[in-house]
Amino acid sequence: MNRVKEIRKERGITQECLANMISISRKYLSMIEAQNATPSISIAINIGNALEVSIDKIFIDTKLDTPITYPKPMRYIDLFCGIGGFRYAAQSAFKKIGLSGKCVFSSDIDKYAQESYAANFSEVPAGDITKIDEKNIPDFDLLFGGFPCQAFSICGLQKGFADTTRGTLFFDIARIIKEKRPQAFVLENVKNLASHNNGNTLKTILHVLRDELGYHVDYHLLNALDFGLPQKRERIVIVGSQKPFEMNWAFNISSKKTLSDILEKNVARKYYASSDIVEKRKSMHCAKEYPSIWHENKSGNISSYPYSCALRAGASYNYLLVNGERRLTPREMLRLQGFPDNFKIVVSDAQIRKQAGNAIPVDMIAAVIERFLPLAF
Ligand SMILES: C[S@@+](CC[C@H](N)C(=O)[O-])C[C@H]1O[C@@H](n2cnc3c(N)ncnc32)[C@H](O)[C@@H]1O
Repeated sequence: MNRVKEIRKERGITQECLANMISISRKYLSMIEAQNATPSISIAINIGNALEVSIDKIFIDTKLDTPITYPKPMRYIDLFCGIGGFRYAAQSAFKKIGLSGKCVFSSDIDKYAQESYAANFSEVPAGDITKIDEKNIPDFDLLFGGFPCQAFSICGLQKGFADTTRGTLFFDIARIIKEKRPQAFVLENVKNLASHNNGNTLKTILHVLRDELGYHVDYHLLNALDFGLPQKRERIVIVGSQKPFEMNWAFNISSKKTLSDILEKNVARKYYASSDIVEKRKSMHCAKEYPSIWHENKSGNISSYPYSCALRAGASYNYLLVNGERRLTPREMLRLQGFPDNFKIVVSDAQIRKQAGNAIPVDMIAAVIERFLPLAF
């Protein structure tokens, strides 16, 4: 028996407001209030703090869920690892939760991504995942992967994932999950995944993860701008666990970095666009804010914002110009993705541009991992 509803009403707090205060969904709070769900001790403590009542006064005769026992260390694998965005995100989330983590396997086919990863994590990722036998991957608890988006043959849905997804990189994720049965996974993909191949790509992925591999799965479209990074980067994040869970995707991140925090002061001449380009851009557009990042779209229209549009691996050289004048430096691109300043840049400007454009927004994925792990274990 709990008195959450009664005490909340006494305090004049709405259900929605209390749910937001303790970062759980309104639906889950409503289940707790209706005595249909028993919260974990940490959620019960949060409820007590929010209502300013000790938990024994709220949860009378209630056996609260036992504290979560995480694997020690939390073993994870970093698939399609690029330059380690997931790894930084995991390290940050683990630290906040108080977990020790160990990366037991990483893979990326790109030689330059491997060089960057090795310089920063002292570990050379394995190469092409399609050539790696899943049985040879060490056991792990958690799988991370930001995989390329490819179409599937939807007509194979009835036949099973081997027929449906073979030849795509999602097939490799699925066969590794099938063999190793990790407790949980976090996957990331472009916003387009939802509309790709008339929605069939995402539908197939969810079908395989849920119906064939037996995981509880949820997903959401998130934007790096909402996670304190001055970059509009929308990505679909898919989370899955062997355990049923209810993820609250509303994040309320108060600490925000601005463009001024990201931009370097003394920038080498080589990053400046030619005077012809600068003059042309300035004749077409007048920025309302300073500093700003000017963005040229596919039809040549210029717009500017006090944040960057999404970094892109294969974008044209002058796609984004700071104040309409210069390109972003490698360090600025890494900062826009939330990489720390001690990230060692060991490849050419062209390669790091591609790598930063491919990476995940670290702060966004760290927030997801931090929220998801207590639900998944
Ligand atoms: C979208 S990026 C992921 C970037 C990464 N999340 C990060 O934060 O840097 C996809 C990565 O998949 C890698 N990749 C593509 N095909 C692969 C394959 N067959 N085996 C392993 N990695 C592959 C690419 O080289 C690229 O680095």
